[in-house]
Amino acid sequence: FPDTDFLRALPKAELHMHLEGSLEPELMFALAERNGITLPYADVEALRAAYEFGNLQDFLDLYYQGADALRTEQDFYDLTWAYLQRCAADGVVHVEPFFDPQTHTVRGIPIAVQLAGISRALADGQAELGISSRLILSFLRHLSEDDAIATLQEALPLREHFVAVGLDSSEQGNPPDKFERVFAMAREAGFACVAHAGEEGPADYIVQALDLLKVMRIDHGVRCVESPELVQRLISEQMPLTVCPLSNTRLKVFADMREHNILQLLEQGVKVTINSDDPAYFGGYLLANFVAVRDALKMTREQAVALARNSITASLLTDGEQQQWL
Ligand code: ADE
Ligand code: ZN
Repeated sequence: FPDTDFLRALPKAELHMHLEGSLEPELMFALAERNGITLPYADVEALRAAYEFGNLQDFLDLYYQGADALRTEQDFYDLTWAYLQRCAADGVVHVEPFFDPQTHTVRGIPIAVQLAGISRALADGQAELGISSRLILSFLRHLSEDDAIATLQEALPLREHFVAVGLDSSEQGNPPDKFERVFAMAREAGFACVAHAGEEGPADYIVQALDLLKVMRIDHGVRCVESPELVQRLISEQMPLTVCPLSNTRLKVFADMREHNILQLLEQGVKVTINSDDPAYFGGYLLANFVAVRDALKMTREQAVALARNSITASLLTDGEQQQWL
């Protein structure tokens, strides 16, 4: 089995990571102090102790509360820079993170402020750490499509900062078809599209994301196994799934890592990748996710290499840019 140094040395891309989900308790407290905010937890330990989730919504409630510590351009810089340093330590060579602008515009923080901090850190990540990046603007699916459209319109003058749009937050009851128009507008404007589907929601939400939102990757997608026909389609189209093993066990999508289906999907020919989703909340960054899969599912060297390769070829890098990592 591949040792951890071997996994670290594999060139890897991370394609499913929410910047707000990389806000570590230590940084959250530091930002709260800097911004004169009182958090509803006594200290870092009390906050970490609250990270016990029964499902996705339990997590989202804390995730949105935690994001309230982010106020200034420098806060968004510090958040993004801290994540990139973790990437460097884990052997991550390319990232395509999400940010959730609506979480912050609702609190009066303009998208321009969010993007200024994030983009400055991503540029430093390229210059100082050699990590390339493409940013994804993600819509909150528990809000209305009109809110998503207004968000896209506010972001369009800043379009040099992001290359794709995504869809996240509470999945059940908020199907992809709710967002058909805003995704059509985004496509029309030249953005690539991705969407969370088949995390807690049914296989049909994956089909909707493919057919109605015309996504180029499915985020999560692990419930595809409930439709053998869909699995065959994912294989024949070589549609990437950005799977998040530690997230799935912490949010009880799988009761135990030994029950996770990522390696079965890989062996069937589905183009799966490993990602950390919200690493500050789920107990580990990208390398920790590889290690958890290795330990629980007896991942082989060949499987680790295939997963790392998939992360590069499923990225938005051009064929030429991908070549250096293959
Ligand atoms: N936002 C952040 N992490 C998420 C996840 N795993 N699913 C849906 N929305 C999210
Ligand atoms: Zn996610």
